[in-house]
Amino acid sequence: MKKIVIEGGKTLTGSIRISGAKNSAVALIPASILCDEETTIYSVPEISDRDDLIKIIELLKGKVMVEKDTLYIDSKNVESSFIPENLSTKLRASYYFMGALLGKKKRVEISLPGGCKIGDRKIDIHLKAFQALGATIKECRDKYIIEADKLIGTKIYFDFASVGATINTMLAAVKAEGTTIINNAAKEPEIVNVATFLNNMGAKITGAGTSRITIEGVEYLHKAMIEVIPDRIEAGTYIIIGALLGKELYIENIIKEHLMSLLNKLQEIGIDITEKEDGVIINHPKKMRGVNITTLIYPGFPTDLAQPISVLLTQCEGTSVLEETIYTNRMGQVPYLNSMGADITVQNQIAYIKGPTPLYGNDVTASDLRAGASLVIAGLIAQETTTISEVEHILRGYEHIVEKLSSVGASIKIIEN
Ligand code: EPU
Repeated sequence: MKKIVIEGGKTLTGSIRISGAKNSAVALIPASILCDEETTIYSVPEISDRDDLIKIIELLKGKVMVEKDTLYIDSKNVESSFIPENLSTKLRASYYFMGALLGKKKRVEISLPGGCKIGDRKIDIHLKAFQALGATIKECRDKYIIEADKLIGTKIYFDFASVGATINTMLAAVKAEGTTIINNAAKEPEIVNVATFLNNMGAKITGAGTSRITIEGVEYLHKAMIEVIPDRIEAGTYIIIGALLGKELYIENIIKEHLMSLLNKLQEIGIDITEKEDGVIINHPKKMRGVNITTLIYPGFPTDLAQPISVLLTQCEGTSVLEETIYTNRMGQVPYLNSMGADITVQNQIAYIKGPTPLYGNDVTASDLRAGASLVIAGLIAQETTTISEVEHILRGYEHIVEKLSSVGASIKIIEN
């Protein structure tokens, strides 16, 4: 079992380069199997989710060549439409093979996806969209067989602007007969990245990034390439770290527009941010004010940054109110932060955070990916040593986190025991 050990209190100076976005890459890799020729994906982060998705493509009889952060994928000979439970349950994004295989083979047999346990993560909106396109769904003990003689474009309305359902519906509809319109689609930048990839292959998708996406079906998808966009959540995590410990800490390779809600909130808190063309320079200020934050779908404040920013709020003056509205159980970091000295109470996914409180190192556990990231942040500002268990959650989503933080002056290492 791996653990992360941190000696807190070090000032961080230098530059951290942001990797390709996990939540884009994990959709682009399954999307590649829709191609009738070869695809190339650049800037894929080296995280364990990437490796699990490659295993799935190879099992389906596709070929994948990895050269540093570039994937060359040949999915011409994808035969199988079956994904075994031991692979599908390893990560959430295995569900993108539902849309991709349905689009390519008109059939998929797959168990429920895995992923962080942060609430009831239903997939009813995905399944309703597949049905609307003409698929039938058989469900038996958490396993789904989804198939269709043919898929026919239609108008679909989402009850909730789900990121996963928006991408999955694009994947299923891209080779359907006729035109599909998704109303109340999600608008996250990762959706635009996937639509661009499919359009590079010859798909006809318009409106990605707005709440109405139109997909005109095509028969053939040709050779194409795509670059994964920079990870706005990884960037946000390091920007928050800079707000707490930065001295001219430069976070580079970011798209600032994707981070507007965070940057505006940090300004409200009193953080010193200098914008550069390709990044931001962050300095820890003398004084930080508490603020209220509510997580919302994009372009609102991202749920994936609520846990990391909860640590920053423990160091702000006054009571901050942090409300999580997307998931029903995303406060797994709170008991551990309190064990380190924070003063946080949670009621109905609303955290009341009183600050500032000094934090002290402790033995803590990463209950999920972003809870783990928040414990890394807490360890970095805490006095003495913090040891984090179950770090596999963190390594699923943050490429080279230990190396990146060490390179700017943090005292952080991974141990095996
Ligand atoms: N929902 C339903 N029914 C559905 C789909 C979603 O009720 O059919 C509900 C979920 O239960 C959840 C909410 O809608 O409460 C949000 O779900 P959404 O489908 O938008 O999220 P997702 O596709 O499951 C992706 C990211 C998450 C990120 C969310 C929101 C991936 C693999 N996951 O999840 O990332 O929080 O969008 O932006 O892309 C993370 O990176 O830590 C993470 C959890």
